[in-house]
Amino acid sequence: MTARRSASLQLDLPGIAGAAARGAGEHEAVAGACEALAPGAVVLRGFARACADEIRDALAEIVAAAPFRHMTTPGNRRMSVAMTNCGAFGWFSDRSGYRYSAVDPDSGRPWPPMPAVIATLGAEAAAAAGFAGFEPDACLVNRYAPGTQLSLHQDKDERDFDAPIVSVSLGVPATFLFGGLRRRDPLARVRLEHGDVVVWGGPARLRYHGIARLAAAEHPFAGSERVNLTLRRAQ
Ligand code: SIN
Ligand code: FE2
Repeated sequence: MTARRSASLQLDLPGIAGAAARGAGEHEAVAGACEALAPGAVVLRGFARACADEIRDALAEIVAAAPFRHMTTPGNRRMSVAMTNCGAFGWFSDRSGYRYSAVDPDSGRPWPPMPAVIATLGAEAAAAAGFAGFEPDACLVNRYAPGTQLSLHQDKDERDFDAPIVSVSLGVPATFLFGGLRRRDPLARVRLEHGDVVVWGGPARLRYHGIARLAAAEHPFAGSERVNLTLRRAQ
């Protein structure tokens, strides 16, 4: 699993020229707006936009140490979303199930540490959403290519559900599906753009959610791809 060209390049190629070419006046959400999704759940529009470049640099280092990989589900299916982690714990899936581990099972080494820019963003977003004192110890990094999706699920592999989930959207826009506490509950469809942060906790902590099939688009952050960080308190 070493020396894979695709691992770090996905993040550092298409951006720079695109950034200059991308003019003002394109549709972007209003930074700072806070939209309620449900009791305990909000979208903080543009909350991560100012630190996105710093996050991008940090991600290049993370991916160099712990490359993106397609994990296997307990049902032995390959996940279409590519994943890696940073922080004291990382989420992973294999035929034995879903769990957190302090080591990357591909390398046997600890996951790369969580950069301060990511931990601080998580704490500030959680506080802005009403969850003061959030100290994430795990950050799952998801990379979506066009056409990939994340099926409806609950985040429930954490030791307790007191801490919220903080989810940072980077790159091309996606449609976030946000449901209720039962899988069959109706879904809200929420367009998430670069820099938007969703926080769900308290009564919303175990709501079902997912990402609809990613449409083809381009964004300076990562070309045609979307990158999502979910910050959690695993232990
Ligand atoms: C997740 O549920 O782990 C990721 C959600 C997202 O990509 O926005
Ligand atoms: Fe999730």
